[in-house]
Amino acid sequence: MKSINLNISFEQYNSIEELNEKDRELCKLSEQALTSSYSPYSKFRVGTAIQLESGEIILGSNQENLAYPSGLCAERVALFSIGSSKPDAVIKSMAITAQTDAFEIVQPVTSCGGCLQVMAEFERKQASPIEVIFYCIDGEVLKVPSVKSLLPFGFVEDRLGAKA
Ligand code: THU
Repeated sequence: MKSINLNISFEQYNSIEELNEKDRELCKLSEQALTSSYSPYSKFRVGTAIQLESGEIILGSNQENLAYPSGLCAERVALFSIGSSKPDAVIKSMAITAQTDAFEIVQPVTSCGGCLQVMAEFERKQASPIEVIFYCIDGEVLKVPSVKSLLPFGFVEDRLGAKA
């Protein structure tokens, strides 16, 4: 038997003012993406802004449906949109934020497991890390260097012994 520890490193900022200009701008754009959220059921808006290597930025927001499981998270809306319209795009980073009128969000909202799984496959497919920035409006920011550090035991092909 072996006992193994995994460590992840990430950066914590008190506000977006402490970020570099590019990251701050990406956070602001994720906030802008909240305006297109369709979330009449949860009343919980989620927005993302994805920075591509080409310089282009793609926005996404959560899209719900009366048949609840048919809805989709903001991250997957944006990622699948990139996958279908720009299959060769390389993602540099993505900022994610959330907002609700129901309560005060006091810390960055982090992505659900399903979104992490999809983010992990994009990262693996492009063979370069995707930086993930979780942004709490008027509050803290967490910056994680790669999806792999968020989901070290994700369901990815290398764990199955398959070749890329
Ligand atoms: N949601 C996201 O957009 N991203 C996540 O990572 C977790 C949750 C959405 C789904 C649903 O529309 C609302 O937040 C409440 O769960």
